[in-house]
Amino acid sequence: MLKENVAALLNEQVNKEFYSAYLYLDFANYYEDEGLKGFANWYRVQAQEERDHAMLMIQYLQNNDCKVTLEAIAKPDCVLNERMDPLKEGYKHEQYVTSLINNIYSAAYEERDFRTMQFLDWFVKEQGEEETNASDLIKKMELFGDDAKSLYMLDSELAGRVYAAPSLTL
Ligand code: FEO
Repeated sequence: MLKENVAALLNEQVNKEFYSAYLYLDFANYYEDEGLKGFANWYRVQAQEERDHAMLMIQYLQNNDCKVTLEAIAKPDCVLNERMDPLKEGYKHEQYVTSLINNIYSAAYEERDFRTMQFLDWFVKEQGEEETNASDLIKKMELFGDDAKSLYMLDSELAGRVYAAPSLTL
């Protein structure tokens, strides 16, 4: 059994990951309406990855005989007026998620819960990659977003993102 506080934080994180999926689906819908189908694809794939994160946490909790409680998922609350808005909000959101993962890691560390620390190592690395991806997208949009042809090329590049199952198995 995991310590109650560690299990509770992991259970809360399940909800946060589902919220992330919901938020990125909202971004995908925004870009779909804008006619930028490549950006929409990129965020749809991201939404699938977030769902995977939630499912991995559920499985980890259940593997450790912890009960999982699903709470209501909040409505995505980002105001999206410009094409850059989802990219900036996404980067901010990933930084926030990194802080949440770090909090759970700290709690596991305090409890000498090495198993959970090892489980979370994958998420620590994943957060690093997700922050880099989000920041790279902003840089690309800053460089190319104002030129129609370049934006078309960037949208075509993002259309090529393909979903891959997570490398972590439990
Ligand atoms: Fe589940 Fe984007 O971190």
